[in-house]
Amino acid sequence: MSTRRTGLAMTKLSQVGVLGGGTMGSGIAQTALLAGVEVTLVDVDQGQLERARGVIGSGIERLVSRARIEAEQGEAALAALNTSTDLEALASAQGVIEAVSENLALKQGIFERLEHVCSDARFLASNTSSLSIQEICERMQDPSRVVGLHYFNPAQVLPLVEVVVPLTASDEAVDTAWAFVESTGKTPVRVKDTPAFIVNRLLVPFCLSALRLWESGVATAEDIDRACQLGLGHSMGPLATADLVGLDVLLDVAESMQREIGEPTLSPPTILRRLVSAGRLGRKTGRGIYEHGS
Ligand SMILES: NC(=O)c1ccc[n+]([C@@H]2O[C@H](COP(=O)([O-])OP(=O)(O)OC[C@H]3O[C@@H](n4cnc5c(N)ncnc54)[C@H](O)[C@@H]3O)[C@@H](O)[C@H]2O)c1
Repeated sequence: MSTRRTGLAMTKLSQVGVLGGGTMGSGIAQTALLAGVEVTLVDVDQGQLERARGVIGSGIERLVSRARIEAEQGEAALAALNTSTDLEALASAQGVIEAVSENLALKQGIFERLEHVCSDARFLASNTSSLSIQEICERMQDPSRVVGLHYFNPAQVLPLVEVVVPLTASDEAVDTAWAFVESTGKTPVRVKDTPAFIVNRLLVPFCLSALRLWESGVATAEDIDRACQLGLGHSMGPLATADLVGLDVLLDVAESMQREIGEPTLSPPTILRRLVSAGRLGRKTGRGIYEHGS
């Protein structure tokens, strides 16, 4: 990376907090636990915490049954998971990753509280996919510890983490977050705090272009996806990816990126709006661009 590594950043963190026990929070927690880090997982919903413990437990069991980790390592990882509905439980965390619902006001309120509760944390990170990190920390007195750590779904599997660097972040916070990501076996890339960062900035216009191609009748959905898989070496075509992400999510993200960036390639095609208004949202509703069996 381009910034100088501070000595402190090289110290391995032993205790982190994860805020939000949904899809992303549970995957991020599992990754840290398996790297030998103690994790406190906080969610406002006790039911979500129980679900997260179940998801992490079965994820770890699967790794043991496939001989990817020793049974003792799995047991130790699960024993290092603490859960709470109280944000104060993060008081002793050395770093925090926030993965609550994608809502700016909610995240701003949380970072305002984290600033005081987590006085010893060396970084306070948000896993937001589409919000500006600088806006998320706008209500804090000192935003220098805040960075973005953008994991990909499923977070316990995909190796990439985008380290999002706002103008307000200190080198120490960026370096510590970067070192933490590496210490859990993930690969960080550095990106400025810009709309959609790297991967989604490229993926969204790609999916929209594929939808336009399909809409214009140039080729079938299957052939568009097959062409990208076999011609570009992609593991999944853009239309299958759009169905996986959710066509409503794709539409929301495209509209918000278009507002900020204003490029014509980000304009959602009519077919996307029609599919969404018809309730054909992709895999989650069983039907989107493709029919998905139950
Ligand atoms: N799902 C993805 O593919 C994906 C990928 C990368 C990043 N993200 C980002 O990760 C974040 C979480 O997404 P997700 O898909 O895991 O959502 P999710 O709906 O599965 O989980 C969100 C969790 O946040 C909890 N929550 C809400 N308010 C809270 C509060 N005040 N304090 C503590 N917990 C609270 C909810 O109870 C829920 O368990 C979002 O910012 C999203 O943009 C999602």
